[in-house]
Amino acid sequence: MSTIKIALTKGRLEKFAIAIFENIGIDCTELKDKGRKLIFHSNNSDIDFVLVKATDVLTYVEHGAVDIGIVGKDTLMEYNKDFYEVVDLKVGKCKFAVASLPETNLYEGYNRKKIATKYPHVASTYFRERGIDVEIIKIEGSVELAPILHLADAIVDIVETGDTLRENGLVVKEEICDISARMIVNIASMKMKQKEIGEIIKKLTLVNA
Ligand code: PRP
Repeated sequence: MSTIKIALTKGRLEKFAIAIFENIGIDCTELKDKGRKLIFHSNNSDIDFVLVKATDVLTYVEHGAVDIGIVGKDTLMEYNKDFYEVVDLKVGKCKFAVASLPETNLYEGYNRKKIATKYPHVASTYFRERGIDVEIIKIEGSVELAPILHLADAIVDIVETGDTLRENGLVVKEEICDISARMIVNIASMKMKQKEIGEIIKKLTLVNA
């Protein structure tokens, strides 16, 4: 039996991923008391966990440095990489949305509207499919600032509770799609470690049914 390596997304999905693995009987004690460590071993399964940024989950899985990744659909939609997306974990639920100041009308006037986002691919695809020509401005974080400081007319971002929009005086103008956490698997690992990975997929699918 070979060790299964799993990359979890740091931050908002972390606690959901831990709960999900504990739910199918995989010990995550080290992950819950992590200190400065970067690799965490399960005490009752031959599994190692690593905690990395969302985009790095895709990179580690694509290159086979880990077998499995837990990552948001938002990141999967933005970056086109090569692996299997196997289970919708139905946690970490949020939406992609277009948001702006309440008075902004994106369809008024002839000027090309500016859209700030951490997700340029998702945003440009959304507007292109609607035949709307926009300028995309890539932002790394705190995207809600962009309309307030007149950097952009609107944003495309993830909305979970809606608190960040509300507290900054922005409103959702259009909902793009629902997002949740997904399990992804490296293409070679799916063949080489079929039995172990198949077991995990089966259990996760059952608890999510
Ligand atoms: C995300 C997103 C919004 C916020 C939405 O940012 O970009 O800003 O969360 O969540 P809410 O609807 O529950 O308020 P994140 O916390 O990942 O930080 P960032 O802006 O620095 O990327």
